[in-house]
This record gives sequence, structure tokens and C-alpha cells, in this order.
Amino acid sequence: MPDNERDLPTVFPDSGVLMTITNEEFELLRSLIYKRFGINLTEQKRSLLVGRLQKVLRQSGHANFKSYYEALQNDPTEQALSKLVDRISTNHTYFNREKSHFEFFVENALPTLTASLEKQNIRDLRIWCAGCSSGEEAYMLLMLMREYFGNRYSQWDGGILATDISSRVLDIAKRGVYPEDRVKALPEPLLRKYFRKLPDGQYEVIEELRREATFRRFNLMNDVFPFKKPFHIIFCRNVMIYFDDPTRKTLVAKFHKHTVPGGYFFLGHSETLGRGQDLYKYLAPAVYHKK
Ligand SMILES: C[S@@+](CC[C@H](N)C(=O)[O-])C[C@H]1O[C@@H](n2cnc3c(N)ncnc32)[C@H](O)[C@@H]1O
Repeated sequence: MPDNERDLPTVFPDSGVLMTITNEEFELLRSLIYKRFGINLTEQKRSLLVGRLQKVLRQSGHANFKSYYEALQNDPTEQALSKLVDRISTNHTYFNREKSHFEFFVENALPTLTASLEKQNIRDLRIWCAGCSSGEEAYMLLMLMREYFGNRYSQWDGGILATDISSRVLDIAKRGVYPEDRVKALPEPLLRKYFRKLPDGQYEVIEELRREATFRRFNLMNDVFPFKKPFHIIFCRNVMIYFDDPTRKTLVAKFHKHTVPGGYFFLGHSETLGRGQDLYKYLAPAVYHKK
């Protein structure tokens, strides 16, 4: 339905006016958002929430937040929930974001892990990009792996699992087409080798690389992480910034459980595991190692 006030005269006669939320409605939504996504909305975020959900309510024909909340409760496909989380979190990302992590990946994590795996005659490297947004981080890691292994790449069972809660960004990731500003921080040789410039000026990730990324919808708040084998490397950058301390702590313990001993864990640059945790050892800013 178009977001046009004139299209909805009966439901929103005064839709130019900002909708209001009652205390009860705010509490209901706040606790649902916390329970389902781990996102902690403080009282200060109240008007932000109202502002960001205006359009969603209008488009779905809800006259107030109570009615919207009830629809969210009865949402077996989780489409409405997915839309909600899309509105309240940010999906901002781009290729080569926080590039010192990618340098660490190539210069430190890959050589250490592959040397240890090769000694055991294992050629299986498992990487999980948790909160991958529109896929830039996952494709970045794949390009770097290919560059690192060179001719040996085909001997390795590489690939990447990349997950996010938002179906919208996962669709972009699977398509692998990006505007110029998302790729501008990429070194030119990588851009030339792994992208095709489309007539409209956008850049498409080559098919060969797209095939190696498995994009799946997954909510990090799920009690069970359904992975058969632990990962050698987990990237979860700029995702836990939305979560409060108890949620973060529980999630980090789950990541730890799903990391191989000696495996790596990357956070966003503004994030830290803090003092007092003894699961991971600090290696570099926002880079950790499982003891
Ligand atoms: C800012 S983006 C980070 C993208 C990328 N990792 C980076 O650092 O550039 C944060 C992503 O976390 C996702 N996210 C937020 N809460 C989540 C949850 N409970 N489960 C899975 N993904 C979640 C959002 O949908 C969003 O795409």
C-alpha cells in the first residue's frame, strides 16, 4: 500500500499528525522487543520508536499501537516482527568497514588456524558472520580467503554462514548488488576481480563468490543455536550494541560454546567484552581468542 495519507482517509483522517503511544502500549512493545530481539529501549527512545513505526502502522492499517502489538503477537511467519526490527535497528554497513579486522584476519587468524588444521590434515574452515546485514562483511571475508589461499583454495572446504534477523537485508545480500558508495573503501584490485559493473552504475558480486555464501535468517535471541559443528571464526560486529549487559553476556557465552578452542571472535570497534569475563582472551582491539 503506498505511504500516502490520501489513500487512508478512513483510518487516519489526521495522519499528518504524529501518532501517540500510551504508557501501556509503550511498555507492551518495549517488553516484546526486549524479549524477542534483546534490544533494550529506554524511556528516552519513546519518541524515536513512535517516529520510526508511524509508517509501518499506516501501511498495515493499524489505528493505534495496541492493535499493532496484537498483530505482532499473532505473527506465525514473523514477517511483521522482521519489519519491526528493521525499523528499530540499523543495518548500516559497507565493504572493508573497520578494516584493521580484515588485516588481522589475513595476517594472523588465517595463518594460525590453517597451520594448525593442516597439521591435523583437516581442510575445513568454518566461519560465521552473525548480524551480517546486507552481506558486505561476508563477501569481504570470502574475497580475502580466496586471495589468501590462492591456488590452494579449492582444496579447502571454505564458505561462510551469514545470518541476520532481517529478511529485507538478507534479500539484498543474496542478490549481491551494491551502489558505488558501499564499495568505495574496497581496494581496487578486489573490486576489479570480484565485481561486475552494471549498466546502472551499481556493482554486482560475481556468481562464483555469491555461491559460497549461505545467507540465512536467524535470531540471535533464539535459545538454541542449531549448528552441528563449532566455528573457527565468528564475526559479530556492531550487533550487540543494541543489547543490554545480561543479554550480551548470555549471547557471548553461546558464541563461546560454538567456537572451537583456539578460534577467533570479532566484535565491532566500539564494542568490548569488558573486564571480568574469562571465556575469551583479548588479542587486539575488539578481537578475541578462545582459550
Ligand atoms: C549495524 S548492522 C552490522 C552489520 C555488520 N556486521 C557490520 O559491522 O558492518 C547490525 C545488524 O544486526 C542485526 N540484528 C539486530 N538484532 C539482531 C538479532 N536479535 N538477531 C540477529 N540479527 C540481529 C540487524 O538486523 C542488523 O542487520
